[in-house]
Amino acid sequence: MVYKLVLLPGDGTGPEVMREAVKVLKAVEDSFGVSFETIPWPAGGQYYLDQGVEWPDGCYESCKAADAILLGAVGLPEAVLPSGDLAGIGVLFGLRFGLDLFANVRPTKLYPNVRHKVHDGFKQVWEPGKVDFVIVRENTEGLYTPTRGFLSRGGVDELAVDSRIITRKGAERIHRFAFELARTRKGAPADGKRRVTCVDKSNVTAGCRLFRKIYDEVAAGYPEVERDYAYIDAFLQWLMRSPEAYDVAVTSNMFGDIATDLAAVLQGGMGMAAGGNIGDAHAMFEPIHGSAPKHAGKDVVNPVAMILAAQMMLEWLGRRRRDPGLQEAAVAVEKAVGTVLAEGKVLTYDLGGSAKCSESGSAIAATVRRLATKGR
Ligand code: IPM
Ligand code: MG
Repeated sequence: MVYKLVLLPGDGTGPEVMREAVKVLKAVEDSFGVSFETIPWPAGGQYYLDQGVEWPDGCYESCKAADAILLGAVGLPEAVLPSGDLAGIGVLFGLRFGLDLFANVRPTKLYPNVRHKVHDGFKQVWEPGKVDFVIVRENTEGLYTPTRGFLSRGGVDELAVDSRIITRKGAERIHRFAFELARTRKGAPADGKRRVTCVDKSNVTAGCRLFRKIYDEVAAGYPEVERDYAYIDAFLQWLMRSPEAYDVAVTSNMFGDIATDLAAVLQGGMGMAAGGNIGDAHAMFEPIHGSAPKHAGKDVVNPVAMILAAQMMLEWLGRRRRDPGLQEAAVAVEKAVGTVLAEGKVLTYDLGGSAKCSESGSAIAATVRRLATKGR
């Protein structure tokens, strides 16, 4: 079986981290008896500057026909659409909405020997097992629903409106996704209990009241998973104070966007944070750090987020296709990342080391090969 993977390296440091993920996928091919056909497409801000559109004709269709999609990062400060949006966002939203990738899944895990980034000068190593939760963010509605606009009179923008839409369908499927995910996990680090925390602002907004009501309806079908509720403001505070209490948290689109960047601080920063945009039929995986143009071309950024995004892809595809080779590979890639971090010899600058992006990727790929040989 040859899996078709669309690669969208994109802008800034996107292509650099994508190269490292591809190295790791090559190691997977050589060691686990699986094959990938990689289909690269240019897309994003630079493509827009060169061609006047955000992605080429046929790119979306190619994504739709693929078994999975990997995205590096899109966006450059100088590439702005006439609407004022950064060029590249159309690629992200084109995939999220077009392919109905309704669950944005963002695991936050602190690996051994990695420092959290709560205070940069406070070089404390937390007990790693204490941070291991997943934020499941609704990805196709909420404040990101394209029901927005300006009221302009006489050429003056007088009013702007964004409507936040919460639907029964949207809430139901994201809650179900969160509970199903909780079933596959080991529970919260603090007490080993499987738990789904509904994060909302139902003390104020109608949409959140509906979101929570449907959470309760869905939760009734999962008696083995503990129910838990938090308002977004209090949740963020508790998340920083007691991350070990959380297992899976489910929330609406914009709250999830904000919460996941904050959560990345607990896992050693954006260089460690990966995410999956998952629907019933398609999925796209990406690091959540963005294109970081100031670091582009220097081979210095941390490729771990991108490699972990590829790891999530292997896991998703392996489960979906019931392919034991992919499933074993997913376990091995995560183990390889953990091993290289724990050894502490090949770390990029953000983790306190001086390794290059390419050295970090090579070390992880070599460790995948080593682990595979050992396992035989
Ligand atoms: C993310 C990003 C995007 C979002 C931006 C680039 C539109 O911040 O994936 O979290 O807001 O969803
Ligand atoms: Mg974001």
